[in-house]
Amino acid sequence: MTVVINMRDGADERGIKIAARFILGGKLVAFPTETVYGLGADALNANAVRRIFEAKGRPADNPLIVHIADFRDLKKLARDIPKEAKLLAERFWPGPLTMVLPKREEVPMVTTGGLDTVAVRMPAHPIALALIRASTPIAAPSANISGRPSPTLAEHVVDDFYGKIEVIIDGGETRIGVESTVLDLSSERPTLLRPGGLPLEEIEGVIGGVEIHPAVRGKLVDVARSPGMKYRHYSPNAQVVVVEGRRENVRKKIAELIEEYRSKGLRVGVMATERYEADEFFHLGETDEDVAKNLFRALRELDKRGVDVIIAEGVEEKGLGFAVMNRLRKAAGYRIVWA
Ligand code: TXA
Ligand code: MG
Repeated sequence: MTVVINMRDGADERGIKIAARFILGGKLVAFPTETVYGLGADALNANAVRRIFEAKGRPADNPLIVHIADFRDLKKLARDIPKEAKLLAERFWPGPLTMVLPKREEVPMVTTGGLDTVAVRMPAHPIALALIRASTPIAAPSANISGRPSPTLAEHVVDDFYGKIEVIIDGGETRIGVESTVLDLSSERPTLLRPGGLPLEEIEGVIGGVEIHPAVRGKLVDVARSPGMKYRHYSPNAQVVVVEGRRENVRKKIAELIEEYRSKGLRVGVMATERYEADEFFHLGETDEDVAKNLFRALRELDKRGVDVIIAEGVEEKGLGFAVMNRLRKAAGYRIVWA
């Protein structure tokens, strides 16, 4: 049985207490963060964490992020905290930045997918922070069945997990819409493992140049340091195609593709910042922030409307656009049309 707790008007003490009790009892609680919804369990309880993997159908070697509410908790999880980590935490926590650090013994191997490092972040969301404070550090991947688009509304979590987990906290739509930026600080050079809600440029503004792991760009080499990168991701049932290039060319190309697919009898959905005449259309908004916020929702909704193909308009790969393009290309299985 799943209890849905409505906190759309903010964190309420009674609801948080109930949810915290479930976490401390080894159960699963989905909760909102500023990025996407997380599927949480007590990070230090191996059996509880194992249930996350089962519920999601997540491969056991894909490690989880541990969420904390107080910087001092980092010392309980990480063996070594380099000065870059301190600087970045001071500047960006709570916020959409996850840092990978050498782990302490106390963190179960299940949580870290067998790695000797642990990924940690402090979410900037009052419900998430209240839940952690009332319980313990919480391990939480995005609250979607493995391979599906991440959830930005409680409805998405209900679609994937109703009846399979104990609690879903409904905190309304998440503010950022793409997951946190993952930065590895456990090796010699700071390395970006996943672009996300905190733009790379902002991180570099604080600690200088950051290496970009080749897998971020879709190269399947040496994925040992971020095993998550090798799996299918963000895929709706419909086939996704991303159109990239200069704005005017993209516009023309999308219009052509709509005709081409329709002439083959396919139902076509388009997600873009400009209007198109297709069978189904999802307006992503105007700014990069709008596009990030609406991205996963658009994939899920167009899918529900029963399209065969989703044509997605590409954006420029800077700021939040880096995360958006990373998710879109994966959703498309790297089916990219250059305009
Ligand atoms: O915004 C977010 O980060 C959301 C919310 C719920 O906080 N969480 C999230 O978790 O996106 P998940 O599990 O969907 O993605 C975690 C990513 C994966 O790519 C995983 O491989 C990587 O972080 N990761 C976790 N621990 C790691 C570690 N020790 N070393 C390298 N990569 C790690
Ligand atoms: Mg995920």
